Order: sequence, then structure tokens, then C-alpha cells
Amino acid sequence: MNEQTLQDALANPQNLGEMTDADAVGTVGSPDCGDMVRLWVKYKEHDGRKVIDKASFQSFGCQTAIAVASLATEMIRGKTREEALQMSAEELSRPLGPLPPMKIHCGQMVEGALRAALEAESGASRPAPVQNNTVTMGPTLVESLAAADKKVGKIKIVLNS
Ligand code: FES
Repeated sequence: MNEQTLQDALANPQNLGEMTDADAVGTVGSPDCGDMVRLWVKYKEHDGRKVIDKASFQSFGCQTAIAVASLATEMIRGKTREEALQMSAEELSRPLGPLPPMKIHCGQMVEGALRAALEAESGASRPAPVQNNTVTMGPTLVESLAAADKKVGKIKIVLNS
């Protein structure tokens, strides 16, 4: 993994924060680590094509997820929805170099949030596909928990006496 690129992205994350005039938003969480990424997308017309004007993100997650989200929101600018949908987690995190195995899901979570936003914009009623170990979440915390509950099953708490 390219530590310098990671540190640069963390020192100056691009497109961080909620976008109030976005066309679509997607949220994905990882049941593995409890981290979450939310990604907003706004489109514009350019040369007769509808392309991504800008994207922003919030991450309640690890540093790798923040760095990948920062890179991804830059990378998808100017792409059509279809082009952005083609981008894999590997491509989105490529500037960081190969991620260590325990960090691969961080990139997949960003890809999942991007897909959720792109699918949401298409007006499709079906939920965005679940990527590997990620869970697509609803727009509110209650919906998110309900969605996560359905995907990963009930959480059982055992108290030791
Ligand atoms: Fe889970 Fe990075 S450790 S998103």
C-alpha cells in the first residue's frame, strides 16, 4: 500500500461532507467492522451526455475507507452513470496500491456506496446489490439498522453472570 498517497488523502480529503443539492445518495456499512460510508452524486449535462458533476462523501470508518472515498469522488467526475458503475473497488483504490487483505473490504464499501447512489438515481426500486460483506443501508439510522438486521441476522448479547 502506498503510505504517502494514503497520508496525503487523509491530510487533505477531497469532497468531504454532505451535499445538500445532490441528485442521489447511497449508504453502505460493513458488518465486519461497523464502519459506514455515505456518498452523494450530482449530475450535469455535458456535450449532450449526462455526466457526474461532483460527488461527496461522509465516512464513519477507517482511514483506508476515507482515503478511497476521497480518491473515488475525484475519479468519477465527468463520467456517465454507466461508466462509473463499471468501476471496481480495485480501480477506485488503485492510487493507494494493492490493499492488504484486511483492508480490501474498505475499498469494497466505497464501491458499494457509489453503486447504491448510482442505482438510486436510476429510479430503480430494487436495492443496490450487496457487495461481498457490505450491507446497503437506508437513508435513516432506523432504516439502516433494519436493513443491516435483515442481512446479518439478529445480534445476540450474552451476559456473563
Ligand atoms: Fe472496515 Fe476499513 S476497517 S472499512
